[in-house]
Amino acid sequence: MPVTLVVGGQWGDEGKAKIVDLLARDADYVARYQGGANAGHTVVADGRRFAFHLVPSGILYPHVVCILGGGMVIDPVALACEIDGVVERGVDVRGRILVSEQAHVVFPYHVEMDRGMERRLGSSPIGTTGKGISPAYADKVSRRGVRMGDLLRPAAEIDALFSEKIRENNKHLKHLGLPAIPVKKTVETLRRSAARIQPLITDTRITVWSALENEKRVLCEGAQGSLLDIDHGTYPYVTSSSASVGGALAGVGIPPSSIDRVIGIFKAYCTRVGNGPFPTEEKGRVGEKLRELGGEYGTTTGRPRRCGWFDGVAGRTVIKLNGITEIALTKLDVLDSFDKIKMCTSYRCGKKRLDYFPTMVRELDRCKPDYEVLDGWRETSGGDGAKELPRAALAYVARLEEVVGCRIRIVSLGADRRAVIDRG
Ligand code: GDP
Ligand code: IMO
Ligand code: MG
Repeated sequence: MPVTLVVGGQWGDEGKAKIVDLLARDADYVARYQGGANAGHTVVADGRRFAFHLVPSGILYPHVVCILGGGMVIDPVALACEIDGVVERGVDVRGRILVSEQAHVVFPYHVEMDRGMERRLGSSPIGTTGKGISPAYADKVSRRGVRMGDLLRPAAEIDALFSEKIRENNKHLKHLGLPAIPVKKTVETLRRSAARIQPLITDTRITVWSALENEKRVLCEGAQGSLLDIDHGTYPYVTSSSASVGGALAGVGIPPSSIDRVIGIFKAYCTRVGNGPFPTEEKGRVGEKLRELGGEYGTTTGRPRRCGWFDGVAGRTVIKLNGITEIALTKLDVLDSFDKIKMCTSYRCGKKRLDYFPTMVRELDRCKPDYEVLDGWRETSGGDGAKELPRAALAYVARLEEVVGCRIRIVSLGADRRAVIDRG
């Protein structure tokens, strides 16, 4: 049974979790493939709102096994705490959360370094979530990291390893003028969380391979979005992992031939948290209206999200990059009260017209969007149980499909899991 992959099409927060939750109903496994607690994934089910950071968004279905893949970076304390929170809300997670041995551990010194490095960037920081993501991935690629599989060692060895890592990194923190991490207290806290998580840690590649051999349905869940991808995003204003499809192969341990459906999640407009280029950003009244109507405040940090019109150039590029086979378009309802709606179809960069998103920030900074202006629908586009969209909304959806070159199969019209149209 082939794999379905869900990938963020913009700068994150596209509503991936809502769509993963929707698709998880028909899945046996949901495997998160990259990122860490920088993600904030909201699911609204029967009026109850859940915000996930490390736990995959399929957890609300009792038949689904959730995997935290090897491409992730995991803070054991945050994970134990998140699992407790989910259990407290009545979700039975027993036997349903597995953690890859290959995933890397995020330590408190990574968090300190992340925040310290941001402060050093002064007036032009990246605007990270402060969850230690970049230092943890830096340790991974420089072969200094600790992996979740290391937490399966005997208790005394784990204590020694944690102490050694904290001491070693306290030297780096000192060098950066940052406070040291208290060794004994931190080791104790980590040890308690590690003990809780130990039973969940396994070679999840084998779990997935055997699931595929047994015709089980596997859904891979991406965090962040393709425009935040370490290679394909607006570098250096990116996250530190491969948020696009490449990350899914390495991060779960599956071959490309196992994937038959790649669902790109796009908002009907654009948002971005943190700094970096955003060609269609609306800094005035339009941006504020989108933010208020769309509730565009970060799920992880509460920061106001920057808002703007749909960017067809970025969209077209992301479709190509990921081989997206269908789109789930979210938050179309947020556009309900606009008289006119703009859609960017190409960029002007000096005398050049660009149809694809440039790779270099300095070029992007010079790009001006070419807009088409479409009619708004000024009526509600749906909500629970809507079957049909207003005519102008259908025209918007059709034009968006043409501009990016991919079919929109799912249209989402509200936060609740039922507020959706599957166009088949
Ligand atoms: P993710 O990180 O991609 O999973 O997205 P977030 O959860 O960070 O942000 C998406 C926000 O939009 C959440 O508050 C969702 O509950 C909400 N949402 C998702 N789909 C829709 C939709 O179609 N309409 C509206 N109004 N809200 C939505
Ligand atoms: P989900 O999965 C939106 C952004 C940060 C910052 C940059 C680097 O909810 O879509 P990091 O902490 O990763 O080093 O920050 O990436 N960022 C996100 N923006 N949604 C996310 O996740 C994000 N995860 C990271 O704001 O600009
Ligand atoms: Mg989010």
